[in-house]
Amino acid sequence: KNTELIEKLYENQNLEDCELLQLINTISEEEREKLFYYARRVREREYGNDVYIRGLIEFTNVCKNDCYYCGIRKSNDKVERYRLTLDEILECAREGYVLGFRTFVLQGGEDSYFTKEKIGKIVKCIKNEFPDCAITLSVGERTYDEYEYWWNMGADRYLLRHETANEVHYKKLHPYNMSLENRKECLYSLRKIGYQVGAGFMVDSPYQTTDNLVEDLRFMQDLRPHMIGIGPYLSHENTPFNNQKNGSLQQTLVLLAIIRLLFPKVLLPATTALGTIDPNGRELGLKAGANVVMPNLSPVRVRKKYELYDNKICTGEESAQCRNCLNLRVESTGYHIVTDIGNSRIQ
Ligand code: 5AD
Ligand code: FES
Repeated sequence: KNTELIEKLYENQNLEDCELLQLINTISEEEREKLFYYARRVREREYGNDVYIRGLIEFTNVCKNDCYYCGIRKSNDKVERYRLTLDEILECAREGYVLGFRTFVLQGGEDSYFTKEKIGKIVKCIKNEFPDCAITLSVGERTYDEYEYWWNMGADRYLLRHETANEVHYKKLHPYNMSLENRKECLYSLRKIGYQVGAGFMVDSPYQTTDNLVEDLRFMQDLRPHMIGIGPYLSHENTPFNNQKNGSLQQTLVLLAIIRLLFPKVLLPATTALGTIDPNGRELGLKAGANVVMPNLSPVRVRKKYELYDNKICTGEESAQCRNCLNLRVESTGYHIVTDIGNSRIQ
């Protein structure tokens, strides 16, 4: 029965709610292999063997929010806070460019020190020095005016995971000064302005139900994001969720494959969280339909301070060159990293 559902999903790029629920809840090991096989087929039809890389620059770990799952939440007074200077950020981009990166992702907490103008200046300086590169911002919920300003300064893409598309679940993950309504509005605004937009969620986050996952997929079918970031929930010792159990590798791989089949052209990263839950996680993600990896370009001295969850990979001295490490890892899957801006083919 599940094998029929997998074929139907492959043929129609869609399933009914009850069919998605059944597939996610009851898929067997053998059926998973079949699902991954179809996801790879679609991925190879759309993107061949190419893997796109994005250089992640974690430029501030200061955050005004207090998400219950996140290690850099404002109430965690054990984190040493940092901000990179414009020069430090440019230096990361220069190192990245030499290594073949043509996309830079500026990611940070919701830090009001970085005003509209400061972020605009960072975008402009990187774009000026590297006109053949894409700039992705990932700095949370800001105003329409700020999003538009950064777009006009040259930003190309924006990552803002919706985290969960269900109101009740959203409130269990976020304190009452955050709202799902505003988050969704930000995503629709970004899309309207012209950004290539990334949404996404954690798999097996506390209190998540399979119904919630189906709601996540339906929300994204409405939003039509260019990119979808998912990874397993991982606990962090200094958060209210420190006793919650980590997400499952297999469940994350199943969701990656389902997403590839529902959204054939979407840019889908094998995330750092996936590489943290299992040493082979990112490779398995690539074999389940993912086509992007996002290695860390942040200065090694700050990496440990950007711990969203415990045991995050690529935070030690040995990971100074994630680019080389990933090259070997990606080659082992039969795919290969390309030096390409890696734009979305979704309109
Ligand atoms: N486990 C897994 N992913 C997390 N994120 C934040 N905290 C955690 C955690 N404990 C994810 C969120 C966020 C992205 C940057 O990292 O989905 O949007
Ligand atoms: Fe960072 Fe392997 S990707 S060390």
